[in-house]
Amino acid sequence: MRRFWIDTDTASDDAVAILMALRTPDVVVDGISVVSGNVPVEMGTRNALYTVELCGKQTPVYSGIDRPLLREPSYAYFFHGPDGMGGMNYPEPAGAEDKVHAVDAFIDAVRGSPGEITLVILGPLSNIASAVRIAPDIADKIPMCYVMGGAAACLGNMTPAAEFNIWADPDAARIVFHSGIPILMVGWEHCRGEANLDDDDMAFVRSLNTPYADFTLDCNESAIKTNREWLGDPGLALPDPVTMAIALDPEVCTKRGKHFVDVETISDLTRGMTVVDELGVLNKEPNIEVCWEINIPLWKETLYTTLRDE
Ligand code: RIB
Ligand code: CA
Repeated sequence: MRRFWIDTDTASDDAVAILMALRTPDVVVDGISVVSGNVPVEMGTRNALYTVELCGKQTPVYSGIDRPLLREPSYAYFFHGPDGMGGMNYPEPAGAEDKVHAVDAFIDAVRGSPGEITLVILGPLSNIASAVRIAPDIADKIPMCYVMGGAAACLGNMTPAAEFNIWADPDAARIVFHSGIPILMVGWEHCRGEANLDDDDMAFVRSLNTPYADFTLDCNESAIKTNREWLGDPGLALPDPVTMAIALDPEVCTKRGKHFVDVETISDLTRGMTVVDELGVLNKEPNIEVCWEINIPLWKETLYTTLRDE
């Protein structure tokens, strides 16, 4: 069995990514740590618990850092809806989060199983930055980390230069990017255009007629509307599920390269920009693998596989 840990600011597309991991038969999710991001950490924790219960699992959910390390929080209700789940007002989860703090739980998990737990980060990097500051030894014990964040080709959704997860807590992202953890950065650009679920794709998902397929579309109702009206894109953008698809099947990423990547933390204009030295002009040691291209049919099939009945 492959072992995953998911760090998430659980709103609607995070929920689908969590579902994908939980419904992959050869993957065990050791824990889900929640962080402030698209929604406040309490709301994200509730949404993660609801998703775990929908999948019939007992995966522990841990609540974590409730604000960026040095900045004020900024939420994305305009995109994900007032509950982060498309305004669906899902019932309260039956269970509760684990009492251990997310950062402590993550450190303990990695130290307890060195080299065994793949990390998938779907929100701002405040939890993981705190973990590597408290316990720098964990960097060598994480075999691979997939980060939904940044914009390698430099078209941001928060500013022209920055994607939300990195913009929200750039100081944390910078710590993690220089921590020595092996990272594949999956930028926001990979969920746009043809990587959206268009009308035909969404009709197909609905035709699967499972609670998981319905949940995928229902909780993203607000995201679909905003994505179309704001960006003029064809349908549903799923940045976190694209990243999860690559974690589940690395073949989904068809072109990658290791480069020196840094995060801008000083300028107001370019706060949170992921600066990729693609040409190596800085002569600095490459620290991050960057995903440059994905196989779009394979990404969608990887999603659909997790939405079908067993
Ligand atoms: O920038 C895209 C946002 O939507 C990120 O928070 C990502 O994790 C997704 O939830
Ligand atoms: Ca997210």
